[in-house]
Formats: sequence, structure tokens, C-alpha cells
Amino acid sequence: MTGIICGTGSYAPSYVMDNNEIATMVETSDEWIRERTGVATRHIIKDETTVSMACEAAKKALDDGEVKPEEVDLIIVSTISSNIILPCTACEVQKELGAENATCFDLSAACSGFVLAYNTALAYLSGGVYQTALIIGSESLSNLTNWKDRGTCILFGDGAGAAVMRAKEGRTYLPATHSDGMKGKALTCLSRHTHIDAKRMKDPEYYMQMDGQAVFKFAVKKVPEVVNEVLSKNQVKKEEIVWYILHQANSRIVEAVAKRLDEPIEKFPMNLQEYGNTSSASIAILLDEMKKSGRLKSGHKIVMAGFGAGLTWGATVMEWG
Ligand code: UT7
Repeated sequence: MTGIICGTGSYAPSYVMDNNEIATMVETSDEWIRERTGVATRHIIKDETTVSMACEAAKKALDDGEVKPEEVDLIIVSTISSNIILPCTACEVQKELGAENATCFDLSAACSGFVLAYNTALAYLSGGVYQTALIIGSESLSNLTNWKDRGTCILFGDGAGAAVMRAKEGRTYLPATHSDGMKGKALTCLSRHTHIDAKRMKDPEYYMQMDGQAVFKFAVKKVPEVVNEVLSKNQVKKEEIVWYILHQANSRIVEAVAKRLDEPIEKFPMNLQEYGNTSSASIAILLDEMKKSGRLKSGHKIVMAGFGAGLTWGATVMEWG
């Protein structure tokens, strides 16, 4: 028994902030941001919230997978930026969808979160515990961003992506995942409520703070390692992999990973040009775009890999349903 993705959906706020707008807030330029990160624009919430975006992406995924809300047994929302603490975002999604039979919880693992949500749902489905799962990555990173820090504010964006998974006969591939809390200082954020707490807004520690170079070096070393690990664990050759769907943090990271794996860059789709880094939403949004544009075909073997704060990193292999 295993689990396959049968529907996807995504949501991006309608407000688009380009690099020139960022250059009005900090000393930077469109040219520098494009060259160093690949990012040209990012979507930023106005009226939307982490909960509302999760709901929109989830509705689209259920429609796409032709799954009724009452059929959903499990809802996992991966987020580090929910607008509410209680109830959890997943329960809010349940309420909005009317998914009355679902067990719901949130998962916090930053940019590795969607891969870990997938692995968690897969374990439940392949273990026969549940039949249908809804996994969502939803982030309002603009609420956690220090718009005076050019080392971080150029990178991040808001959005949500979702996937519906069904239990199905077939092979379950084992994931490879790791964490290193000892290196957690490389990327921190002390509160989720910088946007509503004027006192805290004065203290940079309450926003996302990052040692960009350390995170960059960690990613280009650990992501190829964990991809090789997941392939060898499952005895899958890299020639069999049609797509590597990586967390969308920086085009130079994706290019460096492709090079280290000695795989063509064409196997590494990117959409960070439009969205920036949306943390746990990034892989889910990219999966949805790839499905909608017909690039994912039944039987395609795909690697998903996430990496980020914690530090956390992980990869998983799946066969498209
Ligand atoms: O989701 C996972 C978490 N995050 C990541 O994966 C991010 C990983 N890191 C990165 O993407 C990159 O490290 C950054 C894009 C954040 C920075 O790029 P970099 O090539 O590592 O730049 P740097 O920090 O080494 O800075 C190079 C120069 C410095 O000037 P000097 O000292 O050489 O004169 C910086 O002060 O660029 C300067 N700089 C900027 N200049 C214009 C740093 N940020 C900017 C900026 N605009 N926004």
C-alpha cells in the first residue's frame, strides 16, 4: 500500500511586489537581486491570511482531485507564519471546507515542511490508517520580514499550495530526512507577531534573521547528499528521475545542486522568479503549476527536496499517479 497525489491547487495573493519596489525600501537594485537570487517579483498579502490562502489552495486541490471534503481523513498544514495560534490552521481549513471527518494538525519545519507533511501523510496512507489526506503549505512570510534588512527582504514571498493524496496499491518509497538543531542560529525568528506588536517591531531579533552565506553553503552541500541518499535507499538511479522539485530559495542553489548531482538543469523546474521563497508553500505551488501545465505524466519518477531553518533538510521519491 502507498499514497499518490491525485489533485493539486495553489493560491498567490494578487498584489505583486517587484524588485524596483524593494529598492525604494532598502539599498539594492533589480539587477543585484536577479543576479544573486533569480527572484524578479513576489506576491504579498493585502487582505489574505495564512488561513485564507490555505483554504483557497485546498479547495482547488479537492476540485482537481474530485475528492469531496467529507472523504478527507487527515489535514496537515505546514506553516511557520499562521495568523492565528489556536485553533491550528488545519482545523480552520477543516471548518471552511466542511471536512468533518478529518483529523487536523499543523506542522512546523520551515522550508522542509511540505516534504515532511508529504512523508507524514504517506506513512498514514501506506500504513492503512487513513485513506485520503490533504497536505498544505501556506505562508505569510511578509509578516515576519524585516523590510529594513536587505539580506532577507529581497528573498521572501507569500502564498499557498495543496495536494490531495489517496491510498493506493503500490510501492512506498522511503524518505531521507535530517535535522541539525545545533546549527539553528543560521536562520531564526523569535515571534510570529511582529506585524501587530509595535514594541517588538523595533527589535530585529523578532523578524527573520539569516546568515545567508551559511544557509547557502548548507543547502548546496546537504541537498545533493540527501538526494543521493534517498535514491540509493530506494535503489532508484538518477537517470530514472524525470523531475527534481526543489524548495525554491535561490536559483543559484538550484543550479549548484544540479551541477553537483551531474544532472541537466532542465530537470529542475523553477518558479522562484515570480514567487520568491515562499518556504513550505514553494514545492506545493510548483507541483500545482507543473500538473496544470501537463508536465507531470503518470509514471514519472519525481524527487522532492526541502531545506531550511532548524536546520532541517530532506528528500523523497514518488511516482506520479
Ligand atoms: O529557504 C531557505 C533559507 N534561505 C536561503 O536559502 C538563502 C540562502 N542564501 C542566499 O540566497 C544568499 O546568501 C543571499 C541572496 C541572501 C545573499 O547573497 P550572497 O551572494 O551570499 O551575498 P553576500 O551576503 O555575500 O553579500 C555580497 C555583497 C556584500 O557586500 P560587500 O561586503 O561584498 O561589499 C553585501 O553587503 O552584497 C551586499 N548585499 C547586497 N547588495 C545589494 C547583500 N544584500 C544585498 C542586496 N542588494 N539586497
